[in-house]
Amino acid sequence: MRPSSFSSPEVRVFPDAEAVAVAAAEAFARAAERIVAERGAFYVALSGGSTPRAVYAKIAEEEVAGRRKLPWAGIHVFFGDERCVPPDHAESNYRMASESLLDHVPLPPANLHRIRGELPPATAATAYEADLRRYMPLQQAGMPRFDFLLLGVGPDGHTASLFPGSAALAETTRAVVASEAPMPPVQRVTLTLPVLNNSASVLFLVLGGEKAAMLRQVLRTDTSGAVFPAQRVRPVTGCARWYLDEAAASQLAKP
Ligand code: 6PG
Repeated sequence: MRPSSFSSPEVRVFPDAEAVAVAAAEAFARAAERIVAERGAFYVALSGGSTPRAVYAKIAEEEVAGRRKLPWAGIHVFFGDERCVPPDHAESNYRMASESLLDHVPLPPANLHRIRGELPPATAATAYEADLRRYMPLQQAGMPRFDFLLLGVGPDGHTASLFPGSAALAETTRAVVASEAPMPPVQRVTLTLPVLNNSASVLFLVLGGEKAAMLRQVLRTDTSGAVFPAQRVRPVTGCARWYLDEAAASQLAKP
């Protein structure tokens, strides 16, 4: 349920993909440093798809160059969703995050919580939910609460692996479910809306003109008839931010 006092999400438009990656990497680093210093643990869910690869590479680049060493011992990495493929598969979100980030930073193995895409979808979803509930502070109706959650949006307005018309969108009690995509890999495992909306901070990253028309609808202020899954990600007590490049923002009303 969306609180009546929901504030509109913050939307920032950057000149290009590189500027979005730099800003998103900075947002990740600042949140990690602040929250590990405050509480000793930072719980983050990484997004899949292609957009975040450059962000992860930026974070890794800063670490390897010694310019920004993050408190990895206190950072716990989860995933917003996964394709039901082995971890070394070209379509694996885990593989993408490993190649661009996780293989290059000193994250303790115990702090990495992978969705086991090699398992049958329902088995993988149950196992991941158990992992979430074992390692994360639960808040608000027993739902895990991420400190920072990265999300992308597809041209159809899907986010994580919550696709338009999916039964997964109606889930209210489980934190993780199996879902199906209209494109291969069809079988997916995804966080559900109650978890996404329990997050302290959600950062959407959207690039490219092919998403401009969808974004114009998703970011409309009146979302009473929300039809796109991304429109239904409205953190109850947290904040949602959108980092766009100019091409993706090209059909938004000028401020
Ligand atoms: C996935 C993602 C998915 C992705 C969007 C945008 O597993 O594919 O979770 O939600 O973020 O499809 O993908 P791009 O970043 O490739 O445009």
